[in-house]
Amino acid sequence: MATAGSYRDIYDGWRTDPEGFWMGAARAIDWVRPPSKALSAEKAPLYEWFKDAEVNACWNAVDRHVEAGHGERIAIIHDSPITRSVRKITYAELRNRVATLAGALRAKGIEKGDRVIIYMPMVPEALEAMLACARLGAIHSVVFGGFAANELAVRIDDAKPKAIIAASCGLEPGRVVHYKPLLDAAIDQASHKPAFCVILQREQEVAKLIDGRDFAWHSFQYGVQPAECVPVSGDHPAYILYTSGTTGQPKGVVRPTAGHLVALNWTMGNIYKVGAGDVFWAASDVGWVVGHSYICYGPLIAGCTTIVFEGKPVGTPDAGTFWRVIQDHGVKSFFTAPTAFRAIKREDPQGELIKDYDISGLRALFLAGERADPDTILWAQRHLKVPVIDHWWQTETGWAIAANPIGIEELPVKIGSPSVPMPGYDVQVLDEGGHPVAPGTLGAIAVKLPLPPGTLPTLWNADERFRKSYLDHFPGYYETGDAGYIDEDGYLYIMARTDDVINVAGHRLSTGAMEEVLAAHEDVAECAVIGVADDLKGQAPLGFLCLNKGTNRPHGEIVKECVGLVREKIGPVAAFKTACVVDRLPKTRSGKILRGTMVKIADGEAYKTPATIDDPAILDEITEALKALGYPRG
Ligand code: COA
Ligand code: AMP
Repeated sequence: MATAGSYRDIYDGWRTDPEGFWMGAARAIDWVRPPSKALSAEKAPLYEWFKDAEVNACWNAVDRHVEAGHGERIAIIHDSPITRSVRKITYAELRNRVATLAGALRAKGIEKGDRVIIYMPMVPEALEAMLACARLGAIHSVVFGGFAANELAVRIDDAKPKAIIAASCGLEPGRVVHYKPLLDAAIDQASHKPAFCVILQREQEVAKLIDGRDFAWHSFQYGVQPAECVPVSGDHPAYILYTSGTTGQPKGVVRPTAGHLVALNWTMGNIYKVGAGDVFWAASDVGWVVGHSYICYGPLIAGCTTIVFEGKPVGTPDAGTFWRVIQDHGVKSFFTAPTAFRAIKREDPQGELIKDYDISGLRALFLAGERADPDTILWAQRHLKVPVIDHWWQTETGWAIAANPIGIEELPVKIGSPSVPMPGYDVQVLDEGGHPVAPGTLGAIAVKLPLPPGTLPTLWNADERFRKSYLDHFPGYYETGDAGYIDEDGYLYIMARTDDVINVAGHRLSTGAMEEVLAAHEDVAECAVIGVADDLKGQAPLGFLCLNKGTNRPHGEIVKECVGLVREKIGPVAAFKTACVVDRLPKTRSGKILRGTMVKIADGEAYKTPATIDDPAILDEITEALKALGYPRG
């Protein structure tokens, strides 16, 4: 249900009475014990929401809809063009499946607070595993399937899971991703060992199980007592989701249960304009925050039907797949990353394939994950003939910081802007000294504390790192890591990251993590990775390698090994395909690598030679090396 009033009224209403606003939104949730207040500031600047409440996330996402008589409504549609199959699961079936899986986990010792890692492809069982954890109050941590064993091992050592739930394989177009050997390698590599693993055997590949440690999904659940929902306190972590920072050590974003339920439920009606019975589709992956908030929890909390899509925008089988799914399942609200539309536009520039399908049920398209370029927005507007809503958020926030809340009021779209701040977010643009700047002036985008419910209160087992990464730079604010400006009408413009994070096909990646991998190559003395503009993926990583003195192996061979190393250590999702050997890297006199200047050269943008540069001649060498690779493009 959307809130009544104009956007301005509602936003101002929240500013005047934030406590009243969130307590009002909390009424839509089924509580075991309702909260007596919304915000707790005892640990400020680490804030908590609905701390004294008791609640269960699985109850709110599943059971309550069955109890209310909607058990026959479809909860999940699995549409897999890769396996050419469609499967539907009702809310009643989902409840039974999740209760049984939770019962089996409980029988093996999983309790409230235990961590469970989930490493699965886009199958409904991934959502069931998340919900089974939520049912028991266990804290899940989903790891994206495109990450390599090493990344999984890092997460195992940080989260210390009692169990890992995985599938035998994932399916990429033309390639079976062998999950089980990756899982085995990760467990070998990690210092922490899970007590047991549950493996969903897919028919495309039956994995070899390790006796005593691994259990097959079905036999594991045979004959167990289904589990009821376990109440947890409002601040109990629902999940940990690791995201890229500036180093190879990912940050474990913590999502407390109650704030997550209240905020996501609020967004479904007010931002996405959907309610119970509507079909909502987020074409992302359960391994990303979009998958947590808008494939799993958000739509289910609101009683919608959610789609689990195992395919790509193109090639499965063609650029008409999205339109087929929208038609076949009556999708009302659709969410994806701009890169998916760029892929479709490249294959079907005139949108001819759209005409083959009836997509008249579609009411809006939502884009996020990266900057939505004007061409993509205009193309989508022209061909889909529905509002195209860019909205801006992060793994850390779990839901949109800025959006056009069409459930409240459809504001005029300004192309290039994700529109306006959502209630709960006091967004400001700051100069280096932490002072708000005038409208239209570029600066660091920060949110005045406290952040709203549903956002991160801290990082897993790392309060200090949380403060250092997000709070220390601008006291009293959360530093988003994005730079941009706010115009005279209060519309936000997100222009770039202020750190070493890059965005490749909507996937957030750390250039620092890639540099750590490259630096480990025996012939590499020093290196730098930058994100260069890419027509399809938004950005692509590009590496510069300085070799050890005396290395006389062919450069092509070393580059090939380095490309292979990043794929092996981080995973195919890093899409690290290009690197070159250079004699030196451009640096400031204090030794800081001038990555920003290198990006400008690669993208063909004008740049000023930094006054602090150690040796300006190196920029000419970089320009030559980039030219040899075909940069700047076009
Ligand atoms: N498991 C294993 N491997 C995976 C994977 C997964 N879940 N997801 C991606 N990969 C692999 C791909 O197979 C590819 O490997 P390759 O180098 O062998 O080809 C690599 O990781 C890069 O994948 P991807 O980023 O998907 O690029 P692509 O070239 O295969 O496809 C697009 C390009 C634009 C079609 C694709 O990026 C896309 O659909 N993007 C949508 C973005 C999105 O949903 N983002 C989520 C945030 S909202
Ligand atoms: P992730 O945590 O993977 O969701 O990535 C978050 C980052 O992606 C943000 O900090 C931005 O840099 C970028 N991003 C997400 N949505 C948008 C958007 N609508 N416009 C511009 N950048 C975006």
